[in-house]
Amino acid sequence: MTIQTPGKLLLPFLTGCVMAIHSLCAAAQTPADLARRNACMACHGLVHKQVGPGFAQIAERYRGDAEAAARLAGKIRDGSVGTWGRVIMPRQPQVSQADAQLLSQWILSQPTPR
Ligand code: HEC
Repeated sequence: MTIQTPGKLLLPFLTGCVMAIHSLCAAAQTPADLARRNACMACHGLVHKQVGPGFAQIAERYRGDAEAAARLAGKIRDGSVGTWGRVIMPRQPQVSQADAQLLSQWILSQPTPR
């Protein structure tokens, strides 16, 4: 009898927690999550070249280029070819302008690999 009391109390408590965590996760979505969700990582490595250049390589190339963030945000949505080679990056219209901006800044902030 007494064992059931904490159980009954615990259930709504736990449900509330799970929902809190869930909405927290949705709000605090990192650029890394965005990159995974938009399949960027199917072609890009964080560091090394796969189909496209590694994100650290991109950061390295545009280090000190003040316009790079805006330009790359545009290229993420419009696609690109000829900058790194002859492989085409298809346009990614499913990525919103705001998300492209976040992704671009995140890519450019990748540290130099050693
Ligand atoms: C089908 C493979 C593919 C996918 C998916 C893909 N990329 Fe690319 N990406 C490439 C290739 C290939 C290049 C090199 C294009 C070039 O040489 O101009 C590239 C280049 C880039 C560049 C550098 C452009 C430049 O001017 O230097 C950025 C930034 C980039 N991708 C970000 C992303 C992001 C963010 C996503 C996900 C929303 C993504 N890519 C999805 C293949 C891909």
